[in-house]
Amino acid sequence: MTQAQLIDGKAIALELRKKVGEETHALHKQHGIKPGLAVVLVGEDPASSVYVRNKGIATKKAGMASFTHQLPADTSEQDLLQLVSQLNQDTSVHGILVQLPLPEQINSDKVLQAIDPDKDVDGFHPINAGRLMTGQPGHVPCTPKGCVVLAKSALKDLAGLEAVVVGRSNIVGKPVAQLLLNENCTVTIAHSRTKDLASVVRRADLLIAAVGLPQFIRGDWIKPGACIIDVGINRIDLEDGKTKLVGDVAFEEALAVAGSITPVPGGVGPMTIAMLLSNTLDAARRLIS
Ligand code: GUN
Repeated sequence: MTQAQLIDGKAIALELRKKVGEETHALHKQHGIKPGLAVVLVGEDPASSVYVRNKGIATKKAGMASFTHQLPADTSEQDLLQLVSQLNQDTSVHGILVQLPLPEQINSDKVLQAIDPDKDVDGFHPINAGRLMTGQPGHVPCTPKGCVVLAKSALKDLAGLEAVVVGRSNIVGKPVAQLLLNENCTVTIAHSRTKDLASVVRRADLLIAAVGLPQFIRGDWIKPGACIIDVGINRIDLEDGKTKLVGDVAFEEALAVAGSITPVPGGVGPMTIAMLLSNTLDAARRLIS
């Protein structure tokens, strides 16, 4: 039996980061602008701490300035808003990212809306969400942007394809559906209340799995030859006491049916950071246009 082609997100992300690095150096040399990214972490969630550390390392590697702000878990909403306001005014900061989730005493929507939309490299501000929806230029969320690049690397032209997005979050599901619509796909957004999810998923030429449930989508739900982009990063316990990272798709089962598939890890994950750097470069470039 033939196996699905593996979509190497790690390699594609590295290539993109190299290009962003070269363009960053050129911007600095020609215009004296060094792109700067500020990342704010509130609390000590282990997964968030790893993400934030990796973002800082990648930012510096690309030749950008990295500003990491680590605040205690009991930080007040007022203090966080104060920091965001300070970063909005700081001319050495071109991109601002507040790592989610935030502790419960802080209203995330309020914080995201306080970020200057031009510095909102996450693309989470309602103004940027509105721009994406209405086809105006703005920052586009990183993970959805990465998903589309990976899908195009396998399928080239997405126009006319049946795309099914499983998951409806503001971070992934909704923006990726909008991006696929912009690519002229016929888009279905499925979610936890969808009736007969398996039969909806079976329609997909392109499947974006973003439910956050380990190995939830089974091999027999997949249309033969489909392209699968797995956004899930779930840690599961193994019998020997070890743990393992798995996606939202039962990978081994899908491998035998799909035409192409992203692995976990090494698929969508590395693309998110590459897109964040690309958005930060775009934010800095705005100063010369
Ligand atoms: N938490 C999980 N993913 C993301 C992301 O893309 N951006 C931010 N700010 N927080 C996250």
